[in-house]
Amino acid sequence: MAKLNINGKLRDVQVESDTPLLWVIREQVGLTGTKYGCGVAQCGACSVHINGEVRRSCSIPVGSIKAGDRIVTIEGLSANSSHPVQKAWAALDVPQCGYCQSGQIMAAAALLNKNPNPSDKDIDEAMTNICRCGTYQRIRAGVHMAAVAAAAKDGRIGAPADRKSKA
Ligand code: FES
Ligand code: FES
Repeated sequence: MAKLNINGKLRDVQVESDTPLLWVIREQVGLTGTKYGCGVAQCGACSVHINGEVRRSCSIPVGSIKAGDRIVTIEGLSANSSHPVQKAWAALDVPQCGYCQSGQIMAAAALLNKNPNPSDKDIDEAMTNICRCGTYQRIRAGVHMAAVAAAAKDGRIGAPADRKSKA
């Protein structure tokens, strides 16, 4: 039994404490945007935010989640897919098959929270999510587009540190 705050709602779930958070999110709560890829914290398909940090939910036992921890999945990132990263992904047609992309978006959103103006190098270092379709160039371009949009929205002046990426 665990009480989890997922996307701002408290959920009571009946699971063993060593159950990976990913399976609770998908099977107990029914939020299937978060994907299973490798199961060993390597690919990033299962990425969610916990207290604003990107985490790989396949490798987090639900028993390690503390009361008050805030879990956010792709479904809770924004209302109506309006997060700047989601808008940039749509504008640039970033996904190919799409399987890795909710994890990519969660990783990108967490990166921009910490570093609102990342370079390509910053993106490559922070986002180690695997895309078997090889959409990395569009992912970088999407992060830069989202950074510009977020800066404009916040009234900040400036362009991304470099914009070498081409979609
Ligand atoms: S499924 Fe969690 S990192 Fe691959
Ligand atoms: S878009 Fe297919 S795995 Fe990334």
